[in-house]
Amino acid sequence: MKITGKELRQKWLDFYKARGHADIGAVSLIGDGATGVMFNVAGMQPLMPYLLGKQHPAGKRLCNVQGCMRTVDIDSVGDASHFTFFEMMGNWSLGDYFKKEKTAWTFELLTRVFGLDKDKLCTTVFEGNASAPRDSETAELLIGLGIRPEHVFFLPKSDNWWELEGTVGTPCGPDNEWFYPLDADKKDPVFPDDYVEIGNDVYMQYKKTADGYEPLASKNVDTGFGFDRMLLFLNGLDDAYLTDLFTGVLKKLEELSGKKYADGGEAQRAMRIIADHTRTTVMLIGDVQGILPSNVGAGYILRRIMRRAIRYCRQLGVSSDAMCEAAKIYIREVYNEAYPLLAEKEEYILGEIKKEAERFEATLATGMKEFDKCIAGIARKNEFMKKQDPAYIEETVIGGKQAFRLYDTYGFPLELTEELAAEKGLSVDREGFEAAFKEHQEKSRVIPKGEAKGGLESHSEMATKYHTATHLLNAALKRVLSPDCNQKGSNINDERMRFDFNFERAMTPEEVKAVEDLVNEKIREDIPVVFREMSLEEARAEQFVGVFDSKYGEVVKTYSIGDFSKEMCGGPHVERTGVLGHFRIVKEQSSSAGIRRIKAVLE
Ligand code: ALA
Repeated sequence: MKITGKELRQKWLDFYKARGHADIGAVSLIGDGATGVMFNVAGMQPLMPYLLGKQHPAGKRLCNVQGCMRTVDIDSVGDASHFTFFEMMGNWSLGDYFKKEKTAWTFELLTRVFGLDKDKLCTTVFEGNASAPRDSETAELLIGLGIRPEHVFFLPKSDNWWELEGTVGTPCGPDNEWFYPLDADKKDPVFPDDYVEIGNDVYMQYKKTADGYEPLASKNVDTGFGFDRMLLFLNGLDDAYLTDLFTGVLKKLEELSGKKYADGGEAQRAMRIIADHTRTTVMLIGDVQGILPSNVGAGYILRRIMRRAIRYCRQLGVSSDAMCEAAKIYIREVYNEAYPLLAEKEEYILGEIKKEAERFEATLATGMKEFDKCIAGIARKNEFMKKQDPAYIEETVIGGKQAFRLYDTYGFPLELTEELAAEKGLSVDREGFEAAFKEHQEKSRVIPKGEAKGGLESHSEMATKYHTATHLLNAALKRVLSPDCNQKGSNINDERMRFDFNFERAMTPEEVKAVEDLVNEKIREDIPVVFREMSLEEARAEQFVGVFDSKYGEVVKTYSIGDFSKEMCGGPHVERTGVLGHFRIVKEQSSSAGIRRIKAVLE
């Protein structure tokens, strides 16, 4: 190993710390709700408010190594280069230095610290369009540093513009990307075919609007270099699983299975999947905002990943204990310094892996039999029909009802059934699956008319707003009247909300006004409403309010509105409080002994 993971991490941070940057450390992998993105997909995501102009407490020069997660790649994991979790080495200038310093530092880091040959470095800059000018300034700086002019390429927005797609109000800008030949010894490598991208410096000086871009008040730099990829590349490897991040885990899997990673084939693929998915599992359960496998949202992504790993354990011929063994190596040896929280949560993480494995393994074998029956049924039908009519076009789709049965009875995530089907050259009727899912939901809805769950009569936009308003009201009552006030019931329709709570006397007009004002203040602050799933124990520890009885089950859904409100609740809620408008209490009256009732409207 020319450079270990721990050394690379340290070199990055030391280099930028020596240039006045504060190491701000990594934050949660789970998106903060501000952008509506489920996980952090880039190191800059948690810094968004600061790139837009807010002052960062640590100053104007920052650096870190941040965990990120990209779910689009789940199905590609198994080859030599894809991961679900990865880390990004980053550094930022928040309205401080700009292109001159940044180009010089990246150049120095790559050539002097990492020993890359400046004559082999290639780099790309933005060619300009109607929204932003051609970045000749960066190109000139790069050539001035010693990069060969024929190695500086001007490319269009599709290559050299960085933004978080699908978002509005986020910072973005032209970027300068850095490339190096994959095989450093190759004679006359051709750009871009023979090159790998090793990182990029984004000059974040615009804000994305609904229909274009507007300049930001300050010019920022946002640098991101993929940690895992850089490690692979600096070690001259072409298989990302051969860095020291994974070798310990692969060795363990070889020991347990008696198979060799280097032999390639199915065993190698299974080992990669188990190695990647277990790492992601450890990072998600062990995150500061840890999540647990479930059937919705981020919890569902985790479940998909865990169950995919469990299936591949089976394929490799090892039990799912292999995941726990791999997890221990990540927790104790690979990420012990960078993520000390993992060691604290080790027992919890391993326990949760075991529980999910037990849940799935109880049905996996019978589910696989069921799947095989389903395939055999399709084959039989095709054979029969072909005999009747040689021109018959073979059935290649697994029915939605069958896929739903695998999901509902055997716990097969739809994507798992799709993957199994693809191995047999078949696909799954996704629409049919969704229809079966809906039908099932409707059938199992045994809620008396007008008394829907959580006091909701409908999930209309307005009712959703009122639902969030009840959380604000609940929190405001606790602050204005007494922490002992608790919600005793609610009823919502599109026109108003009714909210019952325990309190011994009528509220004074001043108290009514104070509650109204507090709710309206929180609406004006436009706070993101953040959804998280966690165990009942965690919810209790974090002081979420709600009814702690068994009907919530093991994993509970929670919504928090900043530090103001934390409730266990099934939702749905608005994304930010700002959309609620103005809150007004219409009436405060007695409901029954010791219970008061508030009627309120949003207007
Ligand atoms: N935000 C840039 C990236 O993710 C640095 O690549």
